[in-house]
Amino acid sequence: TAPRKLIAGNWKMNGVGAALAEIEAMAAAAERLSCDLVLCPAFTLIERAAGLVRDTPVRIGAQDCHAQPAGAFTGDISADMLADAGASHVIIGHSERRMAYAEANEQVAAKALAAYRAGLTAIICVGETEAQRDAGRALDIVVAQLSASLPDGATAANTAIAYEPVWAIGTGRVPAEAQIADMHAAMRQHLSARFGMEGGQMRLLYGGSVKAANAADIFAVPHVDGALVGGASLKAADFLGIAAAA
Ligand code: G3H
Repeated sequence: TAPRKLIAGNWKMNGVGAALAEIEAMAAAAERLSCDLVLCPAFTLIERAAGLVRDTPVRIGAQDCHAQPAGAFTGDISADMLADAGASHVIIGHSERRMAYAEANEQVAAKALAAYRAGLTAIICVGETEAQRDAGRALDIVVAQLSASLPDGATAANTAIAYEPVWAIGTGRVPAEAQIADMHAAMRQHLSARFGMEGGQMRLLYGGSVKAANAADIFAVPHVDGALVGGASLKAADFLGIAAAA
């Protein structure tokens, strides 16, 4: 049986305190939804956001964590600190971090382990660039990323995967349904081969220009178990429109 869909919002570097009203509105509607909702605002909002959703089904996540539990890492935040602030999830290896901070797969895997140790669920991101897709290498690249970015010990409970083609992020361009289907089938095959039943149940999210208008079509693709949403997660009306399609 297909797992309950997970709709995660990645606010990226957007939103100050006033934006918490959007999370409050999402939380107020969440009870009526048949999917799981996770919002990942900036570090500075996590504690307040977690307080707001405390008695609701909405969960709060972060957008990154450090691989080490503590130490001389100026400006970084550990997975334990996120859990202490009320987060239950953390996005790891988003393509914006892979590109801007040269985060390699091995570092992504180390961060995922740190997340597990802190009791957090990791949302691990993978995805090809446009040049890689044009070269016919998208499936190979993404499966290789997946293989090297997931540590041993990943389970359906502590890990979700987000497939985000880099060229679809914030561009309004979405892959053809057949392209999403092929990629998700390849990821599922890899995960089942490596992790057995756990790999078969791990939720596979699609991310990149998901909107209320295209969500139902994307969610109908086999092995799409939810979405990682950027721009359309900032406003409750947009995000709830996506969640309603799940
Ligand atoms: O993490 C979210 C993605 O990067 C997707 O962003 O929905 O604005 O295209 P987007």
